[in-house]
Amino acid sequence: MDVLTVKNLSVSFYRQSGEIEAVKNVSFSLRAGEILVIMGDTGCGKSVLCKSIVKLLPDIAKVKTGQIFFQGKEITDYSEKEMQKLRGNSFSMVFQNPMTALNPCMSVGEQIAEAVRLRQPGISRKDLKSRVTELMELVGLDRPGERAGQYPIHFSGGMAQRCVIAIALAAKPSVLFADEPTTSLDAGVQEQILELLLELRRKLGMAVILITHNPYVAAKMADRAALMRGGEIYRIGDAEEIFEKIIHNNHP
Ligand SMILES: Nc1ncnc2c1ncn2[C@@H]1O[C@H](COP(=O)(O)OP(=O)(O)O)[C@@H](O)[C@H]1O
Ligand SMILES: [Mg+2]
Repeated sequence: MDVLTVKNLSVSFYRQSGEIEAVKNVSFSLRAGEILVIMGDTGCGKSVLCKSIVKLLPDIAKVKTGQIFFQGKEITDYSEKEMQKLRGNSFSMVFQNPMTALNPCMSVGEQIAEAVRLRQPGISRKDLKSRVTELMELVGLDRPGERAGQYPIHFSGGMAQRCVIAIALAAKPSVLFADEPTTSLDAGVQEQILELLLELRRKLGMAVILITHNPYVAAKMADRAALMRGGEIYRIGDAEEIFEKIIHNNHP
């Protein structure tokens, strides 16, 4: 079954200088448990597409046309309150820079705990502690007992991104939106985070929309891929088909 369906979505920014069409008539669907990569050059509309689905667009941007369905139910006109519920329970997001996603004034353990408490307000202290440990272990943070008390500043970029992913997973999402999740990381760390995302998808069965401008990342991760240019998806299909050439070049 399709977990997410987007039909004919167009999004524009309205500035004094005029209208900027950032997303043009985009349609795609996301199947349960799959990784759909959305790939294209910087400025082609990937982030705006993603933000318009989760309704985190800035005020100057408007959805002009289109429909969005989550698990068959139309969510196009959901209110902010309904979207908050969806973002809390079904959609989670991971962005490029983990340091800006984390609160520098709170220990990482508290931040993960806060995300858990949001979904399970009545959870006991003991259960909360074990859930935080479980999430930290799930994302490969070793010595969780010790690390939980540390602050983001003590963490490398890769470790910080693991924390952000732990916070995202607290919601037990059906769809994880990952917008350039490894772009700010070193190549070796990027590889570890990509492996983690593959492992989490396998273990948790969530679907992932992975946004990247990097063909290597796309070819490594995609079950299916959508190629964007100038706000449009100009090609979408199975990864083997789309990345045949790239995969071939990587394994001569
Ligand atoms: N705050 C903004 N104000 C005006 N235009 C914007 C704004 N953010 C994005 N855009 C427009 O939307 C296009 C797509 O942006 P974006 O989705 O962020 O690109 P990317 O594919 O790099 O994620 C940009 O090229 C720009 O024209
Ligand atoms: Mg972007």
